Amino acid sequence: MTLNIDSDSCNRCGICSTVCPMGVITPANKTTPPVLPEKKQSACISCGQCEVFCPPGAITVGNPGRKAEKGWNGKDMPPDLLDIYLKSRRSIRNYLAEPVSRDTILSLLDIARYAASGGNGQPVEWLVMEDREDVKKVAALTIEWMQTLVGTPHPMSGYIPSLVSAWDAGVDVICRGAPHLLFAHVPEDNPMAQVDGIIALTHVDVAAPAFGVGTCWGGFVAMAGRSHQPLMEMLHLPKGRIPLYAMMFGYPRFKPLNIPERKPLSVTWY
Ligand SMILES: Cc1cc2nc3c(=O)[nH]c(=O)nc-3n(C[C@H](O)[C@H](O)[C@H](O)COP(=O)(O)O)c2cc1C
Repeated sequence: MTLNIDSDSCNRCGICSTVCPMGVITPANKTTPPVLPEKKQSACISCGQCEVFCPPGAITVGNPGRKAEKGWNGKDMPPDLLDIYLKSRRSIRNYLAEPVSRDTILSLLDIARYAASGGNGQPVEWLVMEDREDVKKVAALTIEWMQTLVGTPHPMSGYIPSLVSAWDAGVDVICRGAPHLLFAHVPEDNPMAQVDGIIALTHVDVAAPAFGVGTCWGGFVAMAGRSHQPLMEMLHLPKGRIPLYAMMFGYPRFKPLNIPERKPLSVTWY
């Protein structure tokens, strides 16, 4: 990866080499700016820490000429506001028919690009179902998969009869009538990527209310997406990639107004 260092604006503070998680940047001295030696380039994970912490903004990672984007200023977000925002996140299971625009969806997914990922691997890609009819098909295929589990030792088999009878009565207990469904998909041969996918989806989940969008994790759909051939065929992911998890989303029909009780904190100080 290319490290672009503007030696005129570099103040030789040495922070870039201190923060580099891979220790590949030779620190600056009075006469020379910091260097990423050629033989260490392959060890650089392009995480951008050198760029992030550079006081004069003398380093960028990536294309030469790329301008560093200013980060959060450390103000304007009182902890109390963040506390109430995060504690107010709720699963939404009743949606308006109004679709979420592609622009809004892209804004949410763009935020998830900045999620942590092991070794900065950024393995997560997305499949967005925009059409409510497709979401309904996914729900139907998930029910179809559930029916194959009845009478088996599968841990979910006990819940299935009630879910299926609700479905038969016309209640979408799977996708909750959501207008959209989001799948995070990851390489099947990279177990670390599974954690990355959940972190990325969590970013979407947490960011969504700020855009007026409601979400709900789709556990049943996710399980079916990895086990039920007809659903796998419908998703038609690129070869070598598996659907990691699913999330329903859309505009909430009801606004979450109150924060429910949760278990008390359990912390061991060591
Ligand atoms: C991994 C995971 C899978 C979930 N799967 C479903 C699901 O299939 N259907 C559903 O209605 N809710 C699902 N949920 C939502 C949980 O039921 C919900 O998060 C929990 O009841 C707490 O409520 P809250 O999200 O409003 O705080 C899932 C949540 C998680 C984290």
